[in-house]
Amino acid sequence: MKNPFHIAVLAGDGIGREVMPEGLRAVRAAAERFGIALEFHTFDWAHCDYYAAHGQMMPDDWKQQLTGMDAIYFGAVGWPATVADHVSLWGSLLKFRREFDQYINLRPVRLFEGVPCPLAGKQPGDIDYLVVRENTEGEYTALGGVMFEGTEREIVIQESVHSRHGAERLLKYAFELARSRPRKHLSLATKSNGIAISMPWWDRQAEAMAARHPDVAWDKHHIDILTARFVLQPERFDVVAATNLFGDILSDLGPATTGTIGLAPSANLNPERRFPSLFEPVHGSAPDICGQGIANPIAMVWSGALMLDFLTRGQGAGRAAHDAILAAIETVLREGPRTADLGGAASTTEIGQAIARRIAQA
Ligand code: NAI
Ligand code: MG
Repeated sequence: MKNPFHIAVLAGDGIGREVMPEGLRAVRAAAERFGIALEFHTFDWAHCDYYAAHGQMMPDDWKQQLTGMDAIYFGAVGWPATVADHVSLWGSLLKFRREFDQYINLRPVRLFEGVPCPLAGKQPGDIDYLVVRENTEGEYTALGGVMFEGTEREIVIQESVHSRHGAERLLKYAFELARSRPRKHLSLATKSNGIAISMPWWDRQAEAMAARHPDVAWDKHHIDILTARFVLQPERFDVVAATNLFGDILSDLGPATTGTIGLAPSANLNPERRFPSLFEPVHGSAPDICGQGIANPIAMVWSGALMLDFLTRGQGAGRAAHDAILAAIETVLREGPRTADLGGAASTTEIGQAIARRIAQA
């Protein structure tokens, strides 16, 4: 195990700054209990105040400053009142994802005891799966353009790009993840009936990868019926692999079925560790509740657990730290205290302290 791991801390905007201290409190408590040495490096950029002062979201040498870090612990970015969302997002988070080749976006979806489920009749255990989203290519490109703009002949073209390299590494990660889980099941999001070139191609890539993982059962679902099944039959899913666009949609829908966006964590991974991976809540900066101290810090805390697990390759002290954080989250969700999004009246800090206390209990 590396000693110490170097963690870049970027809280960002809005409630990112309110949940980050609670995330750090939990990560520190778990690291201390399980003997993991961490060194935190706080960076005061990648937020909209920095943009106001400097006309850009990050310093020119941002990449140099972060290179050598083992992980980036990230709050949320965006303050639409002062900086347009596409400027703040493309100027920070999307640069990390692309330039650090964080090609896996991993989003766990789990229904906890004590959290009201918006789906009727579902119990904890019925919803427990992982969305694995391709995070660097696919439908999200800047390739294309507009012709005959402003005339009746106006046309717009935006290309999708799916590389064999990109599909293979995404599927390999997803199949291996499925293999590591008790159910060993993978579902592929496709649309090979409608998107008749790239999606049949994806199906074939998945078939080839499945042949190399005979112990993993797999199926494929057209994206339209897949969204319906996320709602109607979530117990069918274990690991769900998807292209960038499909994964983006599924990984908001999934957490929505488990009660509140305030719980959903995510990992942006460069599995080969050539670059730092980034761990962040799914939610944004929530300007509507910012400053009140009522944001739910659990998504930030859970993202920290994913970080410790990734740093130690899912083994030994890091896996134990991850599991202890998850157990503490489970207990607090079951017994309280709770933030307003879960019908409670506790503050962000009270939740963070309650979780950290549980983590420290050996
Ligand atoms: P949002 O996730 O910030 O908020 C959506 C709704 O969920 C709001 O009503 C908010 O109060 C609530 N919410 C979010 N997190 C919560 C938490 N931890 N506890 C309790 N309630 C919570 O999404 P929105 O409003 O669309 O975007 C606000 C800003 O955040 C924008 O600038 C957007 O671009 C940015 N954003 C950034 C993301 C990131 O950094 N990865 C992701 C999503 C949005
Ligand atoms: Mg999204």
